[in-house]
Amino acid sequence: MKLLITGGAGFIGSHVVRLFVEKYPEYHIFNLDALTYAGNLENLVDIEQAPNYTFIKGDITDEDFINGLFHSYKFDKVIHLAAESHVDRSIEDPLAFVKTNVMGTMNLLNAFKNLWKADFNDKLFYHISTDEVYGSLGQTGLFTETTSYDPNSPYSASKASSDHFVRAYGETYGMPYVITNCSNNYGQHQFPEKLIPLFINNIIHNRPLPVYGDGNYTRDWLYVKDHAIAIDLVFHEGKNTETYNIGGFNEWKNIDLVRLLCEQMDIELGRVKGSSEQLITYVKDRPGHDLRYAIDASKIKNELGWEPTVTFEQGLAKTIKWYLNNEGWLSNVTTGQYQSYYAKQYN
Ligand code: NAD
Ligand code: TYD
Repeated sequence: MKLLITGGAGFIGSHVVRLFVEKYPEYHIFNLDALTYAGNLENLVDIEQAPNYTFIKGDITDEDFINGLFHSYKFDKVIHLAAESHVDRSIEDPLAFVKTNVMGTMNLLNAFKNLWKADFNDKLFYHISTDEVYGSLGQTGLFTETTSYDPNSPYSASKASSDHFVRAYGETYGMPYVITNCSNNYGQHQFPEKLIPLFINNIIHNRPLPVYGDGNYTRDWLYVKDHAIAIDLVFHEGKNTETYNIGGFNEWKNIDLVRLLCEQMDIELGRVKGSSEQLITYVKDRPGHDLRYAIDASKIKNELGWEPTVTFEQGLAKTIKWYLNNEGWLSNVTTGQYQSYYAKQYN
């Protein structure tokens, strides 16, 4: 099987690529990635020489390139993760999100459909999406697979749009597909613009921890390797045209999470208890900030037998240790462009 994974040099993609390369020597894994600021081949050094792995540098928004690539390699299946993924960046530059997340997905869908439309047997387009397409919950309730789409940020609107196109290609052209909508991931290799790695990096350097608004926003956190395990399962056992929600059964208010992180960081860094908490700084809220995300993951649990394997405390401890042991990785990704992004975003 020739399996194309897009966005495999990014955070979640690199965990998915590693899992498939190691677990399925009989598949050939092609990792297509444009290596934007978020893509980093350092994430994959341990498997880059594997005989069943090929990296291809390329941009999914380049229609001719994508058509040529599918024509040459004839990928049987696709796991599509490549995306612009940060809400704050989508507020600054929505069009970049339309280009990659909508147009880029369209190019992949068209190339895949045109290649296999005569016979879709044993073919699959697996689209990786987010719980943010469902919008915001109040204090109660959970997102299920039938919750109406109600995206609030340019990021979630672009992901919602791409989800709709995937479904439409299934309905219209009979293209086999599955979609998963997952909650917030955390773990090693996450770019330090997202809450957890940003705050770990700031604590290391004794910089303020910018909590948006009053910090009473809730997210449902999942350890990235558990997401990769779920993707493996859905790829092999998910039913054609189905959607599965993936979540951590693990809701945290931002401020409580930040306090736990500070506590664990103080221990790891041998600092006086309570010292990292003093870095907490409440800053201007994110516009259109979704109050609460929480996933009902009972479908994937009941139908495919998936459950997270790692508790939040364990996952967070592993994550902190990884960042502290890989300060070289952190400093490589936080030079250059990162500095100007940080200055603009946080003044
Ligand atoms: P990321 O930003 O860490 O990685 C994205 C990857 O896509 C990078 O390697 C980047 O170089 C690549 N990429 C970006 N634009 C590209 C283009 N035009 N052509 C080719 N490659 C391009 O993102 P992530 O957090 O790993 O998220 C991966 C996927 O999972 C995304 O589709 C995202 O919407 C989804 N998702 C993320 C989360 C989360 O918490 N991070 C949760 C649910 C779903
Ligand atoms: P983030 O990691 O950007 O993920 P998402 O917006 O996709 O959920 O943010 C997680 C939560 O943390 C979200 O409620 C916004 C908040 N947040 C802050 O309070 N400060 C920050 O500097 C960042 C990046 C996020």
